[in-house]
Amino acid sequence: MKDSLNAIINARLQGSDELHRITMENDRFAQVTVQSVAATAGERELDAAGNLVVPPFVEPHIHLDAALTAGQPRWNQSGTLFEGIECWSERKASLTRDDVVGRAEQTLKLFADNGIQHVRTHVDVTDPTLTGLKAMLEVRERMAKIVDLQIVAFPQEGLWSFPQGKELMEESVRLGADVVGGIPHFEFTRDYGVESVQWLVALAHKHDLLVDVHCDEIDDPESRFLEVLAAEALRRDYGSRVTASHTCAMGSYNDHYCSRLFRLLKKSGLRFLSMPTESLHLQGRFDNYPKRRGLTRVPELLDAGLKVAFGQDSIRDPWYPLGNGNMLRTLDVGLHACHMLGMGWIDHSLELITDNGAAALDLKEYGIEEGLPARCVVLQGRSPYEVLLGQLPVLASVRDGRVLVDRRS
Ligand code: FE2
Repeated sequence: MKDSLNAIINARLQGSDELHRITMENDRFAQVTVQSVAATAGERELDAAGNLVVPPFVEPHIHLDAALTAGQPRWNQSGTLFEGIECWSERKASLTRDDVVGRAEQTLKLFADNGIQHVRTHVDVTDPTLTGLKAMLEVRERMAKIVDLQIVAFPQEGLWSFPQGKELMEESVRLGADVVGGIPHFEFTRDYGVESVQWLVALAHKHDLLVDVHCDEIDDPESRFLEVLAAEALRRDYGSRVTASHTCAMGSYNDHYCSRLFRLLKKSGLRFLSMPTESLHLQGRFDNYPKRRGLTRVPELLDAGLKVAFGQDSIRDPWYPLGNGNMLRTLDVGLHACHMLGMGWIDHSLELITDNGAAALDLKEYGIEEGLPARCVVLQGRSPYEVLLGQLPVLASVRDGRVLVDRRS
């Protein structure tokens, strides 16, 4: 179906048992109305056949510059985050523009095929040539028809601990990065980590950019940079534009500290991202038994009214050898790891890979409502429970009224 759609019919929307007709005009949603009976598709109408229709999946945390490099130049045998960084540092030396563009685009096509239309990628900017960043800025334009791409300037080897770390970050912002990143738990000292967080939030604020920090991605309960990030966000009233990725150490914090921390988190309104497959794989590596799961406190954050989304983090790279672009796989693992298989959580589980990811990306036009861009996916199932049971590929993906993916026949 090459022309723009006029409508999606027989669509089931979350929280409603009724079928809906969703009309579109000028690439935007026009009307969402209840159908009294099932309808037959007319010209330029897509029949959802009673399946769930939701906004497109959001991949809020991926590393496209490293995607599809697992085993190059060697495999990460220990399975630790730190050996992953070493392997990547060796691979990074051979990066070229064509190498990065080719792998990033291949991965984004895989994502689009899985119903993902919004992606935030981190790009390592601890590279004096900024090869990855420059290539990704090109990819952002080249792939705009199938996906919206946000680029995080990510200092993989530190802002304070890598030569010219701050200057490379400033140059990345000048070149057009959307988001300022950081990695305080990897800096050489706690003081470096604190200073780096204060500096990067100030930089983002000055340039009206978003923030997404790899924060406390470690099982060390003494790693407490989240409180610094939240305090900086609160001080600048910037919480809705600041994301804390990982916060694995929160899974090791004691409850007394968390009770104080959560007061600050609620005031700050920070966004949270958890990458369950990656953290289960990389964390707990220095434990014997019992072994920690290495994930942040996802249900507790949600209960506190904060926005938490799941991301994949890696697709076959030095940190994680697997990954297939199916967000339902990530969701399934996350719900297991976080003790969230109660039906109350399952009923709202799709928010973890749609709405909450959109909140982290600070998307202004996202959802199935009159006037918003006509973007959605048709899932295989009539409820989140059925969708999770099957974990089947999306039946269709619609972007600005056009059909990107159609598996109905
Ligand atoms: Fe990451």
